[in-house]
Amino acid sequence: MGMDYSKIDRWILAEDSFDPVHLGKCEAVMSLGNGYLGLRSATEEKYLGETRNLLINGTFDLFDSSEVTELPNAADVTAMELWIDGERFSLDQGGYAGYSRELNIHTGELTRQVEWTSPGGSRVGLSFRRMVSLKRLHDIAMEVTVICLDRPVTVKLRSGIDARVTNTGTQHFTEGEKRFYEKKYIQLLETTLQSDITFVLNAVHRFALNGVPLELETDVNIDRRVIYADYTVELKPGDAFTAEKYANVSTTRDLDCAGLSVPQLQARTLEALKASADLGYQALAEESAAQWRLEVWEKAPIEISGDKNSRMDLFALRFAQYHMRLMLPRHDNRMNIGAKGLSGEGYKGHCFWDTEIFLLPYYMFTDPEAARKLEEYRYLSLPGAHKKAQDNGYQGAMFPWESAWLDDGETCPLYMGTDILTGTPIKVWSGIIEQHITADVAFGAWQYATIAGDQDFLERYGYELIMDTATFWASRLEPGEDGRYHINDVVGPDEYHEHVNDNAFTNYMACWNLNKAIAYHDHLKTADPALFQRLDEKLSLSQVYPKWVDGAARLYLPQPTAEGILPMDDRFMDGEEIDLSKYKNQEFVAGIMKDYNLDQIQRLQVCKQADCLVLFYLLEDQFPPEVKRASWAYYEARTVHDSSLSLSTHSVQAADMGELEMAYDLFRRASMIDLGPYMGTSDAGIHAASFGGVWQCVIYGFGGVRMLNGKLRIQPNLPCGWDRLDFTLMWKGQRLRVSAAKDSLTVENLTKTAPVFVTLNGVETEL
Ligand code: BGC
Repeated sequence: MGMDYSKIDRWILAEDSFDPVHLGKCEAVMSLGNGYLGLRSATEEKYLGETRNLLINGTFDLFDSSEVTELPNAADVTAMELWIDGERFSLDQGGYAGYSRELNIHTGELTRQVEWTSPGGSRVGLSFRRMVSLKRLHDIAMEVTVICLDRPVTVKLRSGIDARVTNTGTQHFTEGEKRFYEKKYIQLLETTLQSDITFVLNAVHRFALNGVPLELETDVNIDRRVIYADYTVELKPGDAFTAEKYANVSTTRDLDCAGLSVPQLQARTLEALKASADLGYQALAEESAAQWRLEVWEKAPIEISGDKNSRMDLFALRFAQYHMRLMLPRHDNRMNIGAKGLSGEGYKGHCFWDTEIFLLPYYMFTDPEAARKLEEYRYLSLPGAHKKAQDNGYQGAMFPWESAWLDDGETCPLYMGTDILTGTPIKVWSGIIEQHITADVAFGAWQYATIAGDQDFLERYGYELIMDTATFWASRLEPGEDGRYHINDVVGPDEYHEHVNDNAFTNYMACWNLNKAIAYHDHLKTADPALFQRLDEKLSLSQVYPKWVDGAARLYLPQPTAEGILPMDDRFMDGEEIDLSKYKNQEFVAGIMKDYNLDQIQRLQVCKQADCLVLFYLLEDQFPPEVKRASWAYYEARTVHDSSLSLSTHSVQAADMGELEMAYDLFRRASMIDLGPYMGTSDAGIHAASFGGVWQCVIYGFGGVRMLNGKLRIQPNLPCGWDRLDFTLMWKGQRLRVSAAKDSLTVENLTKTAPVFVTLNGVETEL
């Protein structure tokens, strides 16, 4: 009981029983959204322990200097409370039958059915529908139907806009105007405390009795931070009462509202609300479903056929695609993707290396326009990166470990979690010394530009990003007694080891960054002197170039041991080995933190997540196969996969090594991080990067797709249970259809406006 996977062939994730103790799971995994807004799927009726979230991307606010900026939780529009004969509808009282909640990922609609008997014995059938439009980015629409099953009942509905919500206790808004227009249209304004963004929310209800429109008298209530109306109707047995609720939300930060005064925004959004309500729920739902087809399912179709498990594999992949669209701000390049998307308050809406290393591949290969926006965001946030470099005594662009608004700079909190030994909050070092993010950003910009063949991006943003980040690395290197440069005192990708020297991932990526800047410098100097001069004026190339060259030549790069293992840093391999089976087999993560504090973990050979293994596929050709194999075996045995970024990396790597059973097992585990039956895993929001990871397991791992040194390679390795894998890829403006079977591979250029050079199973081919 709980998650129900019997309808996955119809693109439906269902819940077959209601669990008031584990509300967070379905709220997050069944959330709705469109990249502009994210709506957590808390139910219409309220429960203790629920989390109602309406998050608008990019609307960051800093409540107090002791906190970090976060996406504020906007007023709730989803509550629609019902009373049946005076008794409040709630599944934790009375009795119920026939419960089912379904998320249709093809259409982006959430529905719920239940037959409820009130404690006093009145029986009603209830059905709920809800959607966030993918076409009208500000719109939310809901529908509730009450069917009177036995004796006549009085139904009361209370619904409105409720700004009595917080971010786990922090109130980000000052109260604004509240109004009823024409005794029908509800409007509420609220303004963020520090960032001064005004949110305008509107709602209106429409009613019908047995399909015939119905006007209902209202009882209007305006109170502190809330505005709502009560509607009452009498039903006879067999009657069906329907209440539709249309709502929208807009802010003064929205690009499509730029230049409007607050009163103009109020008027405009109210008109938009009326237009949506006139269209009606069904038409809005169809319009949005059509947009889902156009933007996602037709643009990036994937098919897997094989044994019975392959149906779930395909659903998991589509579920990942669904969520990767919910979190994607296609409409605005001033914002990025939070580590929990827009499905919860976890990680405060901040973006991490998750974007470039885990999510960007999906967007680059399926929706390059959107991918470009994500990288433009990094360019636009250079002011924050410069600020961070200066604050730390470095030059160039030092990207924040956690990013929010463009000029915020570092937004990583200083403390998080509890130290099991001292009972104090744990200091988070990532914002200070997890520095590989700077090279990851440069790598992302290069990957995007290469895969999309986007020269315009490189000229406007990419070259500068890659050079400015190289300048940071050149200023960051520390000369050692051995005559080499070292990068000391960092946190690598594996966050269980802090203050390490020469983290392999960091050093190799920094070296890549320096070399890429050098190559572009040398190329532009002759190929595009005008652009070269512009960059020179901006970045003082003549001064920094010799430092890049010196840095790249002398940077220490950890080398494999005699056993072929790449040391992830200068001390990991000397750590104490402990039996990790307990932690590796737990249904929840970070169990080890209940037995050891971070200081103790530092001295153990235990990894939270993939570290140098990520290198093995980003810079695949820099490491011989035997090093990858030996390192994989060594590190996997020591990794507890406490980060959702870990399993997919191991899976792709295993597929590359031809260890398909292992790769498939890891992929299945990765695909269950949010989708699986474990109830406590997604409370703070879904795991955005793990969805990118699931796509990478399939397309990079089993599909064998990789961009290496600017070239496309496809070399499928299907797992035993799969007969076929079909997908499309965008490569330099050409759309390719790839069909891989156990013994055949077909790649077709569907666009046909330019030749495509691709290495297919080792053979260079022109399409
Ligand atoms: C991981 C990081 C990741 C962050 C956000 C942390 O737990 O260790 O690698 O960037 O979560 O997803």
